Amino acid sequence: MKKETRSDSNPLFAQKHNYHRFFLKLALSCLLVGLTVRLLFTDSFSLSSVVHNPPPLANAIPNSPFLSFPPPPSYSADFPVNQTQTSPQDAVECDLFVGDWVPDLNGPRYTNESCRVIQDHQNCMKNGRPDSGYLYWRWNPRGCELPKFSPRKFLDMMRDKSLAFIGDSISRNHVQSLLCLLSQVEEADAVYHDEEYKSRIWKFPSHNFTLSVLWSPFLVKADIFEDINGVSSSEPQLYLDVVDDKWTSQYKNFDYVVIAGGKWFLKTAIYHENNTVTGCYKCHGKNLTDQGFQHAYSKALQQAFDFMTDSEHKPVVFFRTTTPDHFEYGEWFNGGYCNRTLPFKEERINMRYEDSILRSIELEEFDRAKNASPNFKLLDTTGLSLLRPDGHPGPYRYFHPLLNSTVQNDCLHWCLPGPIDSWNDILLQMLII
Ligand SMILES: *[C@@H]1O[C@H](CO)[C@@H](O)[C@H](O)[C@H]1NC(C)=O
Ligand SMILES: *[C@@H]1O[C@H](CO)[C@@H](O)[C@H](O)[C@H]1NC(C)=O
Ligand SMILES: *[C@@H]1O[C@H](CO)[C@@H](O)[C@H](O)[C@H]1NC(C)=O
Ligand SMILES: *[C@@H]1O[C@H](CO)[C@@H](O)[C@H](O)[C@H]1NC(C)=O
Ligand SMILES: *[C@@H]1O[C@H](CO)[C@@H](O)[C@H](O)[C@H]1NC(C)=O
Ligand SMILES: *[C@@H]1O[C@H](CO)[C@@H](O)[C@H](O)[C@H]1NC(C)=O
Ligand SMILES: *[C@@H]1O[C@H](CO)[C@@H](O)[C@H](O)[C@H]1NC(C)=O
Repeated sequence: MKKETRSDSNPLFAQKHNYHRFFLKLALSCLLVGLTVRLLFTDSFSLSSVVHNPPPLANAIPNSPFLSFPPPPSYSADFPVNQTQTSPQDAVECDLFVGDWVPDLNGPRYTNESCRVIQDHQNCMKNGRPDSGYLYWRWNPRGCELPKFSPRKFLDMMRDKSLAFIGDSISRNHVQSLLCLLSQVEEADAVYHDEEYKSRIWKFPSHNFTLSVLWSPFLVKADIFEDINGVSSSEPQLYLDVVDDKWTSQYKNFDYVVIAGGKWFLKTAIYHENNTVTGCYKCHGKNLTDQGFQHAYSKALQQAFDFMTDSEHKPVVFFRTTTPDHFEYGEWFNGGYCNRTLPFKEERINMRYEDSILRSIELEEFDRAKNASPNFKLLDTTGLSLLRPDGHPGPYRYFHPLLNSTVQNDCLHWCLPGPIDSWNDILLQMLII
């Protein structure tokens, strides 16, 4: 298997001319009032009301837990039988997405040694991140137990099946977590990659299970002019009424889909509809109407959902909500960083303005689509992820970074192992329900 050394194109490390007006603080509660662009210039990210949990219980990584798995719990016991007989929306006994991070002595289920597919930029252990407390938490929904991911159970469910992750580098981050968790039972064979290792396919031969990740950061057709380091030479051209055939052409092959949009829509872009340029976002000096990213994101999600709703093929579709970032003391481009080492306790943390707008658009479009598509499920990881400012690579995006320098921090992607592993705990639980 080839090693991934490619750099990670993502919205935050791209587009050098895209710096202004990036993120701001706005309480979730002000979300609907906050659409005006006037508010765009605050760059503080106030977290002062936040209370920390008690310190995590361990500092060192124990030796053994990575390779031992308890027998799969009796899943049916977690959800009363009565509940499962009601309509699908009511089937969940508790809301898996409302809860707290609680200390977990067991620690991570894999390491940089046991999992070989962790991308360098997210390989915090290998890159020398000194603290390990962030590895000793588990997501604990209020009102029910969330069993830890059982690779055996997952692979049994996926026997003879095909699962695809569709989206941007966060989807790649997510799939790598899954590969690491599954590698405890079966190592995947890499059977395909595109030139930039952005779209990939793996097979799990003894389970005849196919896992893919498809690079489609906008979900609709887009011309992207970025080099391999994520530096763009021109703004993306988005065709908001044309769904991206990178994933639609494959769609009929999938039994399960985890699809997501998000941060790429915050980049400068030129918008096309109906074969004409209709506007843009943050395209100063271009004599085009700035339409804001909201319209583009709604439209793109509508296209994606409509495609799946209209398709005769009906895989189980998980729509994952946007992932929040945690830059503080600045932004990604001007020295912002994320040096917290503990989760937040309260849910009522201010989410950045853009993140809250992205999520509200997602919920709106998902709700609209869900009525016509009972096979759609919401993987609403935004809130639980917002509570984990401690789970990002920060400077440990690079191998033993010089901490005195103005090294660029990554406070968007997630360390592996790290909080993103819980997304897979939840994914499996949703598959079982
Ligand atoms: C579940 O169903 C049983 C039998 O139908 C009933 O006795 C029990 O009260 C129900 N439990 C709940 C929590 O609804
Ligand atoms: C894993 O990380 C540790 C530090 O936590 C480091 O000493 C070791 O060399 C790393 N191993 C690999 C294979 O990267
Ligand atoms: C593997 O799964 C595919 C469906 O995804 C099925 O068509 C094929 O027959 C399976 N192969 C074996 C060897 O079971
Ligand atoms: C797209 O173009 C067609 C034909 O020119 C026109 O009928 C239609 O109204 C246009 N749609 C939009 C959204 O502009
Ligand atoms: C801007 O666009 C408008 C309408 O398309 C056009 O009339 C005007 O001449 C353009 N201005 C410049 C400076 O190109
Ligand atoms: C993070 O950095 C700030 C400013 O450099 C410092 O005041 C704070 O103590 C640091 N926090 C941690 C947990 O290291
Ligand atoms: C950072 O540290 C390195 C070596 O430890 C040194 O060479 C470099 O000059 C330092 N940079 C700054 C800006 O202090």
